Amino acid sequence: MSAAEKIIAPAPSKKAATLSVDGKTVSFPIYDAVEGQSVMDISKLYAETGMFTYDPGFVSTASCESKITFIDGDKGILRYRGYDIDQLAEKCDFLEVAHLLLNGELPNKKQKAEFDRAITLHTMVHEQAHFLFRGFPRASHPMAIMVGATASLSAFYHDSLDINVADQRELAAYRLIAKMPTLAAMAYKYSIGQPFIYPQNDLGFTENFLNMMFSTPCEKYKVNPTLARAMDKILILHADHEQNASTSTVRLAGSSGANPFACLGAGIASLWGPAHGGANEAVIDMLQEIGDVKNIPDFIKKVKDKQSGVKLMGFGHRVYKNYDPRAKVLHSTCSEVLKELGKIDEPLLKIAVELERIALSDEYFVERKLYPNVDFYSGIIYRAMGIPSKMFTVLFAVARTVGWVAQWKEMMEDPKTKIGRPRQLFTGASPRGFVPMEKR
Ligand code: CMC
Repeated sequence: MSAAEKIIAPAPSKKAATLSVDGKTVSFPIYDAVEGQSVMDISKLYAETGMFTYDPGFVSTASCESKITFIDGDKGILRYRGYDIDQLAEKCDFLEVAHLLLNGELPNKKQKAEFDRAITLHTMVHEQAHFLFRGFPRASHPMAIMVGATASLSAFYHDSLDINVADQRELAAYRLIAKMPTLAAMAYKYSIGQPFIYPQNDLGFTENFLNMMFSTPCEKYKVNPTLARAMDKILILHADHEQNASTSTVRLAGSSGANPFACLGAGIASLWGPAHGGANEAVIDMLQEIGDVKNIPDFIKKVKDKQSGVKLMGFGHRVYKNYDPRAKVLHSTCSEVLKELGKIDEPLLKIAVELERIALSDEYFVERKLYPNVDFYSGIIYRAMGIPSKMFTVLFAVARTVGWVAQWKEMMEDPKTKIGRPRQLFTGASPRGFVPMEKR
């Protein structure tokens, strides 16, 4: 157990909650969190009362105990292993943060060099994987390719997939973190008909990714340090986010003992949805559709009309009821990138800034505590860098891979882990007699 774990291990509280059901009073222990909400342990509820809890969308449900990420949505706080996200984004590189998420501590110089090397040695994918890519239509959405390509890694590493062996879990984690940028860049290159670019192990993690995306065999790509730094920050900001839909998917898939490559394939599928990681792509579509600052009031009117089904993409969050701290960092990063690229007059940025200003002073959004989330500015940065919108969610997946593997490892190493098996409120047909086909 690391020093950090010793410090943050929560002590069970002596408090308890009581519940009366049909005249029977049942008591449930309450556990206090180090920070944030306490939880009521209702694991004995069914045994004691014969009832389940009902909580669609898991709005009031803590699915696990975790030491990795803390969010205070009301205050707009996000911390990885106790460190504020803005500090990590300003002062660390992505692999330093990956080490923190995976191992609980920021690495010292020697640990960092060893970790960087260990990840770097796994950046290349099996040559046979190239054929897998070639089976996809060129016009495939890169997320469709990523779902399959990530899960397919389990076919290549079957001999080192014993999830009960710590070294093999670590190896799988390193492979996933290292290979995801390679797979992502391959998905992009495939879509534009360019040859795959092999990883260059003399480049840093993010520089290598940008090189695989933008160089060609006939044209060298010189990595712009401002853009590489911006990309590194984006990766850090997206690296983990507690028990969100995709992370919960990875945990649930992993709880059955499935291998981590397959579990991450499931996580990527969940991330793809527009209510989750797909929102950054939807933000650009929305800004383009608005087209001009003068059209914003009409668009806001449409958003407020529930019949229209239109949402202000990049706004609102299940957990943040305040400005998403990641959006704050990205807003300033966005200006830095546009300045570096001489695109400070980018019309989409102007629309975004004005949209944000109007929304933040509109009663509809204020009342519902809807603020910009991480996706509001990330798409503008990617676009300015020349990354097509179909790749935005793929970049989210590259970053979130670290969080997914850290959460998967934590779950595998937790003796309390059981297969995840929620129950239901059944509202279907009551028993009825079978009717033969000729009588239906
Ligand atoms: N535009 C307009 N109205 C909204 C929006 C929005 N973006 N988000 C929430 N609302 C309204 C919603 O209609 C509801 O109104 P009412 O109380 O009148 O019925 C109220 O605000 C509460 O919303 P909710 O749907 O109960 O909130 P939720 O926690 O279930 O949904 C969300 C959270 C992120 C799915 C939602 O805010 C949304 O769809 N936002 C746009 C998509 C987006 O930007 N997603 C990225 C999330 S951040 C990246 C990530 O974590 O993946």
